[in-house]
Amino acid sequence: MALVANNLLKEFESFIAIKDVSFRVKDGEFVCIIGPSGCGKTTLLRMIAGLEKITGGEILLDGRGVVKPGKDRGFVFQEYTLFPWRTAQKNVEFGLEIQGMGKNERKELAKKYIDLVGLSGFESRYPKELSGGMQQRVAIARSLVNNPEILLMDEPFGALDAQTRNLMQVELLRMWEKEHKTILFVTHSVDEAVFLADRVIVMTTAPGGIREIVEVKVDRPRIRTDTEVNRVRDRLLSLLNISYKESFGD
Ligand SMILES: Nc1ncnc2c1ncn2[C@@H]1O[C@H](COP(=O)(O)OP(=O)(O)O)[C@@H](O)[C@H]1O
Ligand SMILES: [Mg+2]
Repeated sequence: MALVANNLLKEFESFIAIKDVSFRVKDGEFVCIIGPSGCGKTTLLRMIAGLEKITGGEILLDGRGVVKPGKDRGFVFQEYTLFPWRTAQKNVEFGLEIQGMGKNERKELAKKYIDLVGLSGFESRYPKELSGGMQQRVAIARSLVNNPEILLMDEPFGALDAQTRNLMQVELLRMWEKEHKTILFVTHSVDEAVFLADRVIVMTTAPGGIREIVEVKVDRPRIRTDTEVNRVRDRLLSLLNISYKESFGD
């Protein structure tokens, strides 16, 4: 699904959260958004999801204006948002249940996505019996099972330890290549953006806007220490005006 944002404006009362934001995402593209805390990343995703009213401008999905939430968009949040009283399997089945899909059919479909996220054997576990990484895998499966055309991900790996996070990035790319979804992925991590994205939207703050859109022209699978990966990372860091020391502690 292709996405077009034209001159987006978002005001909360008299506070301007987002101003003059325009960009395009091609069908099947993986785009990351980075920017300082409070620059409007979550607000932007929520507007695309139809969860937040647009004050000005427009968002088009395959040419149609966003007015409300829809099945064509899946959302994965940073916080673990599973239902604690449902097993992994039943969490993934939730959306299908709401749609009124039959028991056997939804069981089978949920199983397919549990397999896809690498959780076969964990179907009957409850969220509290799963690690953070596994809970996010369930959340991703719960989104994908509804067959969205675009996946909106708001710092989904932000709460994971570095090693789990790297693994989840590899897994997400594997799913993306298999499912051919369009992905819009918000992250705080320049490293994560360079590893994942076809293009990275760098935002500015107060009010939130776009500083630059940087293309990552590196074949996948990417090597995190590759020369071009390093070059793009440096470019993004300087755009964010964060010194290497501040970000990586060395
Ligand atoms: N419901 C709201 N009411 C008022 N201000 C809000 C609301 N939601 C977000 N904001 C403000 O809008 C700005 C952008 O917030 P947010 O989109 O959450 O930023 P980010 O996700 O980039 O950290 C912040 O200044 C925040 O305080
Ligand atoms: Mg946010």
